This record gives sequence, C-alpha cells and structure tokens, in this order.
Amino acid sequence: MSLRCSGVRIFLMPYTLTTPLYYVNDRPHLGSTYTTLACDALARFQRLSNGSVVFVTGVDEHGQKIQRTAEQKQVSPQAHCDAISTTYRDLWKRWGISDDRFVRTTDPRHLQLVDQFYNRVKASGDIVSGRQTGWYCVGCEEYKDDPAEAESPTCSIHQKALEWRDEENLFFRLSRYQTAIEELVARDDFIAPASRRQEVRNFVNQGLRDFSISRVNVSWGLPVPDHPGHTFYVWFDALLGYLTALLDDGEPVSLERLASCGWPASVHVIGKDILRFHAVFWPAMCMSAGLPVPQKVFGHGFLTREGQKMGKSLGNVLDPELLLDRCGSDAVRWYLLRDIQFGDDGDFQQQRFVDLVNNDLANTIGNLLNRTSSMARKWFDDCVPPAGAATGSDHPLAIKSAACISTVMESMPKLAFKTAAEAILQLAIAANGHLNDTAPWSRMKEPGQEATVAEDLFAVLETTRLVGLLLAPLLPDLSERILAQLGMSLAADDWSNQLNWGRLSSGSALPKPTPVMQRLELDEPL
Ligand code: MSP
Repeated sequence: MSLRCSGVRIFLMPYTLTTPLYYVNDRPHLGSTYTTLACDALARFQRLSNGSVVFVTGVDEHGQKIQRTAEQKQVSPQAHCDAISTTYRDLWKRWGISDDRFVRTTDPRHLQLVDQFYNRVKASGDIVSGRQTGWYCVGCEEYKDDPAEAESPTCSIHQKALEWRDEENLFFRLSRYQTAIEELVARDDFIAPASRRQEVRNFVNQGLRDFSISRVNVSWGLPVPDHPGHTFYVWFDALLGYLTALLDDGEPVSLERLASCGWPASVHVIGKDILRFHAVFWPAMCMSAGLPVPQKVFGHGFLTREGQKMGKSLGNVLDPELLLDRCGSDAVRWYLLRDIQFGDDGDFQQQRFVDLVNNDLANTIGNLLNRTSSMARKWFDDCVPPAGAATGSDHPLAIKSAACISTVMESMPKLAFKTAAEAILQLAIAANGHLNDTAPWSRMKEPGQEATVAEDLFAVLETTRLVGLLLAPLLPDLSERILAQLGMSLAADDWSNQLNWGRLSSGSALPKPTPVMQRLELDEPL
C-alpha cells in the first residue's frame, strides 16, 4: 500500500495481525479455533474502524512431529500436510474467518524467504556450530530444561517420554541479544496481557542461551543451504512463515519489501505456551536480520472443558466442526468472546454455553428486535415510526448508546472482547428496560399518545440498529440479520458514521420479523 506525494512515496501501514501457524499433525481443535475467532473479531474491528488490515493465519508443516504422524499413517509427509492444511482452510471458511493470507510453510516461496533470512543472520555473525545435548519433547518440538524425572523424563504437557539428543547443530547466538531483549520485554506495551510479562522477564533475566536452529535427524524440514544433512529446526522456519505470508502478493520474495507489506506486525496473537518463542527468540532473530521487531505479542489463556484439560486420551476433545454444525458460528463466537476474558484461562461448560446464548442472543437481543419491530409494523404501516424528539442526542438511550460505543472503541483494540460484548449486551438490556418502562402497548390504547409511542419505538429500534452494528466485528452473521430486519445493511467503509445516533430513517419499510437467533436446544452432550 503506498501513496505518492510530491514525488515521494509514502507507505500506509496496515494493521497486521497474526494467529499462530498451526501444526498440521492433527485436525484443528477448539484451541486453534478460539485464537482464530478472536483474531477474526479484532481484524473485523480494525477494518471497520481504521481501514487497512492484513490478517495472517496458516499452518506450520515441518518437523519431527509431523514426519512421525505421516509415517504412522503410512502416507508421505507432503500428502499428509496437504490434507490437513485443506481441512484448516476449509474450516476457517466455514466459520467465516476473514483472513487475508493463509500461509503454508511447505510453499516454495517460504523456502526462498528462509534462505534469505538465514543469509542475513549468518552475515550478522549470529550462526555458530555446536553440540546440542538434552531431553527433547517431539510433541512440543522443544528441548526441556528441567525434566522432572532424571531417570525417565516425561513431558508435563504431553505426558510422553522425552528423548535424549546428542548431535551437531547450528546455533543462533541469542546470548548476544541479552540487553536488547531485556529492554524490549521491560516495555509495558510489548507483552500483553500484563499478567504474562513477569514470566518472560524472569526467563530473560536468567540469562539467554544460544539455541539450536538445525537438526541432523529430521528429514522433513527445509534444508540448511550451506550444511548438507541439516534441516532447519521447525520453530526457526515456522516464525518466518509470518514474513512469507506478508510477501505473498504475487511480487518476488524479498525481505527488502517487507516494510511496504505490513511488517512489523501490529500484534501476534498466540497461546501462553508459545510466548517465549514469540517474545524472546523471534524478536532477537528479527534484530539479527536487520528487521523491526513485532509491536506486540498477546498471549491468551487455555481452554478446558467442564474443568478438565481437553485431550484425546480423556476422550473429551471438542470438535470445532461438530460445534459449528450443531450450534452455529454466532453462538460459539458469543460464548467464547463474551464469557472468557481474553488472556485468562477459560472453561467450556455446555449448560452455561446454552444459557448465555439463549438469554443474551435469543431473548435479550432477538426478542427486543422482534417485539419492537412487530409493534412498529402494526401501528405505523409496516414502517419505522416518526422519530419526533427521539433523534436528539440527549435521549436517555442516545446517552447510553454513546457510552457503549466508547467502551467498544476502547476495548476492542486491547483485545478486551468480553468488555465490549458485555457493553453491547447492557445496551440491549437498557433498550428492553425502556420498552418495559414506557409500555407502548398500553399507551397506544389511550388517545393522543401516538406521537410519543412512535418516539419510544423509534428510540428502541435505533438502539437495536446500533447493537447490530456494534456486533459486526464479534458476530458478523447475527449483525447482518439484525440490520436486515431493520431494512438495512452494513456499509463497511462507513461504520463510524453509521454509529451516530439518529441514522435510522423514519418511514422506511420494516421487513416482516423473523427470529434473528434460534434458541439452542442441546439434549445430548456435544
Ligand atoms: N506451530 C506452533 C506455532 C508456530 S507459530 C509461528 C504451534 N502450533 S499448535 O497447533 O500446537 O498450537 C497452536 C496454538 O493453539 C497455540 O497458540 C496454543 O497455545 C493453542 N492451543 C492449544 N491448545 C489450546 C487450548 N486448549 N486452549 C487454547 N489454546 C490452545 O504451537
């Protein structure tokens, strides 16, 4: 994106956000769906409020974990990656994810980028040979420093035996970046939420050690150009996938172009387990390659189910495909974004899920719209009633709407989705309250009340319009149905103006109401 101004080229920085690049060892799970839905809400908000966005997602396809999975399935690693990558891509489409780039680390362009990056890091004097010994977890694709049991060490996350490694590797000289990384992680705007900062600072303060970036026993990886027999360590290659994604615009792959393609990222959104890679290793790699570091790393919490960790062995994994089929995107988005403070751990509880969706979306928001529009149609010729004094910014619902809009505008860029969702819900509750307090159904029976009934109905419909608009980043489908029920649609490039009070036009036709949100009835466990 660029503008020419008196012969000088000015680059307009888009808002660049990324999900992690998901391992294709298995099908997508609720954890990856959660991050992707949250990023989708943020991307939609940034597009509506600021314009230019690059939303990156994709898959991480190399490494021993994937090599072994393919071996177990007796298919080639490439065939395995193709199948699972397609599953991810298709699933994100079905959830309505608005990603701009879906990167695969087996894309030949990625290999070009990794070579260029490696050459820069090497030219900085940051690649050295060494011997790596230690306990390795293939599930985490990571060396473990403190195996609990020296005799038969086991990974605390995967509950699988760690494997002893002793091999020649190439190392990245992370230790050289001690001071620079200390300064970076000391900044209060780099790691979010605040609760995650200390853990990273403690890790950095212990002293950064060089880390190995090549493997000699893994064939399913990108070859290190000047070291035959070595492939790049999966994390070294995976992090670079973010850059490949940004350069995926049909132009040649070149690190020189990154500044005009959306780098540095505005935020990497990741789970808390991979914070160290993103907040320590990755910025140091960028510094070494002469690239700016990402602006922010947001580490969200983990989801459990009915209080238990989800896992195949427990048989309690929630399949995102099934969840989507049985409950729909709006319901799941609402529950995950409204019930869990993004950043904290959260628990998926089926009964709570059903209750929240039915109370908030079907009753509070859906019924509000349905009953108000039914009354307006009945008494005002199927149209939006005359607004009278209700367009004034001093109307009680106008004041509440303005407060809600400020809360949404402040909380969404901070990824405080729960705060935004609750504010929108409170606005709908206030509109219901106004309807109950003013009781148009009884006043309409009294003579001379038509004009004030019209005002009240207008004000409530107008509030519902704002609820629909404000929901656009969080629940895009429900938002569309609410606006359609008011005879309107989202003008994506005019969102901020549309959020002004009083834009509903009196006399415009109101379509016949249909429920905008079906109640969830789940008799069986999901
Ligand atoms: N491939 C690496 C990321 C490389 S990014 C350059 C990876 N992939 S992963 O598929 O294992 O994990 C992807 C994300 O899912 C991580 O952010 C992880 O934290 C998240 N989650 C995995 N299980 C989760 C939950 N139960 N709940 C929430 N998120 C979870 O790591």
